[in-house]
Amino acid sequence: MAFDDRVRELPAGALERPLALIGFMGVGKTTVASELARRLVCPMVDTDGLIESRAGRTIRELFDWFGEAHFRELERTIIAELDHASRQIVSLGGGAFMDATTRALLLDRCTVVYLAAPWEYVRGTLRRIQHSRPLLRGRSPSEIEGLFESRHPIYDQAHLRVLMAGRKPAQVAERILQLLQP
Ligand code: S3P
Repeated sequence: MAFDDRVRELPAGALERPLALIGFMGVGKTTVASELARRLVCPMVDTDGLIESRAGRTIRELFDWFGEAHFRELERTIIAELDHASRQIVSLGGGAFMDATTRALLLDRCTVVYLAAPWEYVRGTLRRIQHSRPLLRGRSPSEIEGLFESRHPIYDQAHLRVLMAGRKPAQVAERILQLLQP
């Protein structure tokens, strides 16, 4: 598994499209999204935040009371409804890109950036994030590693992959913009 910076193939006008940030839970998508929005002076949206305000419930409540399938349905709908025609930074929940319909839509309309990090880095974030992520609660590190490994090749279909480990969010944002320059 490789996690270093890699440009797969950029869509035409890559910097004019919405920038969709994907990657595993806790890797820092929202922080990098804020940095990008500040530099590009454009809006930023966080799909988990949109889901919570639409549903009037936290992500945790949605999982606990209605189940993951219901959460995924809301997530798919909200992403399909985003304005895909104007420049904005979209920070996606870590599972959103696993849905084939969402994935095809994002690859078609946005510039998709995978914020990547090796397992050792992700493992180091678990203590901080595990209690607030329903998919991680009650799972052992090796179960979470299995989820991480199964998702990596799917995230890796992104137009661009940028390494998070060892960098500050501002440096990651700079690197993304550098790689996206025509
Ligand atoms: C999920 C990631 C979470 C949130 C939900 C499910 C996932 O968002 O959407 O708990 O399946 O990876 P973050 O990636 O922002 O933690």
